[in-house]
Amino acid sequence: MAQQQRAAVILAAGKGTRMKSRLPKVMHRLLGQPLLHYPLQRAEEVGCDPQVLVVGHGRESVAAACSQPSVRLAEQKDQLGTGHALLCAASSLEDFSGTLLLLCGDVPLLRRETLEALLVQHDQAGAAVTVLTAEVENPHGYGRIVREGEDVACIVEEKDADATQKAIREINTGIYAFSAPWVFSALEGVGRDNAQGEYYLTDVVALARKEGKRVCAVVMDAPCEAMGINDRGQLAEASALLRQRVSQQLMRDGVTLIDPATTYVDTTVSISPDTVLHPGVHIHGRTSIGRDCEIGPGVTIRDCQIGERVHIKSGSVLQESRVGDATDIGPMAHLRPGTVLAGENKIGNFVETKKAQIGFGSKASHLTYIGDAEIGAEVNIGCGTITCNYDGVNKYKTVIEDHVFVGSDTQFVAPVRIGRGSLIGAGSTITRDVPPDALALSRSEQKVVEGWAKRKKRSKKSSS
Ligand code: UD1
Ligand code: CA
Repeated sequence: MAQQQRAAVILAAGKGTRMKSRLPKVMHRLLGQPLLHYPLQRAEEVGCDPQVLVVGHGRESVAAACSQPSVRLAEQKDQLGTGHALLCAASSLEDFSGTLLLLCGDVPLLRRETLEALLVQHDQAGAAVTVLTAEVENPHGYGRIVREGEDVACIVEEKDADATQKAIREINTGIYAFSAPWVFSALEGVGRDNAQGEYYLTDVVALARKEGKRVCAVVMDAPCEAMGINDRGQLAEASALLRQRVSQQLMRDGVTLIDPATTYVDTTVSISPDTVLHPGVHIHGRTSIGRDCEIGPGVTIRDCQIGERVHIKSGSVLQESRVGDATDIGPMAHLRPGTVLAGENKIGNFVETKKAQIGFGSKASHLTYIGDAEIGAEVNIGCGTITCNYDGVNKYKTVIEDHVFVGSDTQFVAPVRIGRGSLIGAGSTITRDVPPDALALSRSEQKVVEGWAKRKKRSKKSSS
């Protein structure tokens, strides 16, 4: 059978009581992304459009996090069970007659390949339902897959199971492929006469059999992929598994991780070969890092584009910045949003930058603040230089043209422009524009009183 059109329904109405949180469960973060991001991403990767999100508890904050045009929201006001939850998505899929992938908002570790295999098998068999199942050591709490020979006869929930059924180790992961029009009509016939008084989605399996429809099961190779998150312990466990997966992929791609166990890289990050990550690095969001870089211990990077041969030393923090090739940063440097380094720069210890464009080859090696500034190429910013960009009401810009030499302990009171090739004497407070090739100096003249200190000490001694 030809591949069907695909849509997804993602169940995320549950409260998540065991998280003990004000935040809806699916909004808790796993490697930098809300849990919900993962099933949505997988659904998109296997070509599901639309993706219908069933929301209930905390619907406003969940909805606010899912503004993609392919996501439709369906509301489940009362949580009456998984069958009822899927039925709440029916009106969002009235015009859809293909294969429906059912995912849960709190099951983040499924791989694309696993879902693709489920969908392909479902379409090829022309099944009404295909269940993703797993053989586990401890099946307690899960629905059990009851087989008749090779076929799946029904799914029995833990609370409704007899002793023989409880001994079954093949469990329902809660992930399925359905024939869309069929499952919505079948759900109309599902009741709540069971131990929990809920509308069980799992009941459609027995209904399909009764109607003589095909029911299939795909047994997973790695059951941990279907792990659901119910509490913070499982969230940490899932985080460790996902980090391991990311680390292994990075190493296969040619990145050196000195200590994978303490390396925290989001799934959204890309890193090129021969880059080395030291212990304790955190790399988040839309970050890309080029070849041959070295990211030192305890460095945090979020949403940055970093070129090649960049060395970022211990304890530096970089956010929403761009770093050109062969640049040296840190230790303990802070690149705040809007920093753009052209390349071959040096941003040394205790240097903070914000909304600062810094030209090729320019250096600020120590103890400096550069904010709201445009700095040309081959500029040397001396130790302790500060752009005074804020008067308590407004922010102003400092412009420093190419080849300027700024002596140590200079303050630029913005707005101010320093002409190309000029020199600022150490200790100056620069309040007016400086023309090109000039010397600017605002230091007060030094006064020397000979013997003064010695006399002072003597008079102190005699009075005590
Ligand atoms: C369900 C399955 C069980 C399976 C297990 C896998 C049923 C009846 N049972 O168990 O066979 O082994 O998943 O984890 O389906 N949800 C809603 N609205 C509701 C109820 C649930 O949106 O009214 C959502 C939850 O937020 C969650 C998902 O559905 O994301 C699964 O719900 P959960 O209560 O964990 O599943 P069980 O019913 O325990
Ligand atoms: Ca449950």
